[in-house]
Amino acid sequence: MTYIHNMVLPNYTHDDSSRNLFANDLSLHINNKIYAKCYKNFYNDLPKKISTKYQLSQTRNFLLKKTPYKFWSSLKRNNQEVLFDNVGSVIHQQINKFSFKKFNKNLKYGTIKLSKKICTPKYLTSVDIHCMPGGYTHKSSSDDISVGALYDSSLYQYSRNSLGKYNDDMGNSVCLWLKNNFKTFIPDKILDMGCGIGNNSIPYKNHFSKSKVIAIDISAPLLKYAFVRSNLFKSNIDFQQQNAERTSFKKKSFDLIVSHLLTHETSNKGFGNIITECKRLLKNNGIMIHVETDWNTENNVFNKLTLDWETHYNAEPFKTAHDSTNKFTLAQKCGFKPNNIYIQKIDSLNRSKYYNGKWNLFLAINKS
Ligand SMILES: C[S@@+](CC[C@H](N)C(=O)[O-])C[C@H]1O[C@@H](n2cnc3c(N)ncnc32)[C@H](O)[C@@H]1O
Repeated sequence: MTYIHNMVLPNYTHDDSSRNLFANDLSLHINNKIYAKCYKNFYNDLPKKISTKYQLSQTRNFLLKKTPYKFWSSLKRNNQEVLFDNVGSVIHQQINKFSFKKFNKNLKYGTIKLSKKICTPKYLTSVDIHCMPGGYTHKSSSDDISVGALYDSSLYQYSRNSLGKYNDDMGNSVCLWLKNNFKTFIPDKILDMGCGIGNNSIPYKNHFSKSKVIAIDISAPLLKYAFVRSNLFKSNIDFQQQNAERTSFKKKSFDLIVSHLLTHETSNKGFGNIITECKRLLKNNGIMIHVETDWNTENNVFNKLTLDWETHYNAEPFKTAHDSTNKFTLAQKCGFKPNNIYIQKIDSLNRSKYYNGKWNLFLAINKS
């Protein structure tokens, strides 16, 4: 299966792999060794708890005056750029491999429905999210699906191979957790919002084989890549180009709505719209689960500062705001009852080191 998956990934020469390994090792060194040393310098001057936006910006300003912090910060930013330079240049050299036309004839599993009417929200076009050149909708021709290969490969690199060999740990972990904790819940229809390359959509089809799985994303080239990729896994998934904030599905269409790494990349308004849309789309007793990485910011001031670093220096403009959003309040505003809202940490199946072996679930059940 690894071999089949390689059909949509670039081929790496020895030197390409070596460059990737270097970026990986450097990232570990920056995050562990340099980070620890750097904070030792001013550990005693930092607040032990940061609970307001003002306190956070004060602390950031304090850090920005410290040379070790600036050194760490610029190395970290540089390393992210090096990661994309490495992966991007390999893909660019093999650009003809990533043509949708080449695969199109043999796609028998599932469907794809694209729309010319979809506008990409500003929060996805204003910056190249997490420094990924060109962002999620980049294409150099109408058939170009290389953005999918770039996301697939860079996620593997960025997570230091800890999301499983198919980058699907989040989906698998949630499916298993659902099966253990909601034993009688068998969803008829599942929606994966912001599916990207469909890496985390496939586990739902594997674990709930009788369910219909629909996966949506804003980006046409990513969806095309996802469709090719899921065909290589013989997975029957219906991909549609839709904005998760307002889809064209009828109300009460789904038993389970999931997303993985979607909500931290939307604006505050976009996040609220997505939760309102989930409420509209869920059947009675349907479940919504939004999965994010667990930065453990509530217990650790350094983690909070590192997450905040991502907001300011890794082109993740909503990360801090997303982290401090009160999800209980948000879900209630969007129509969910307080007793049916849960914020839950679950174990990563692979004990993913991305970040601490846990995933954060924002879960709500649509009970009247
Ligand atoms: C970080 S990627 C996550 C992809 C995939 N779910 C995963 O687990 O790796 C976020 C995805 O959300 C999509 N996205 C962001 N805002 C969206 C919106 N309003 N509607 C649909 N998709 C959206 C992006 O195009 C991107 O593919």
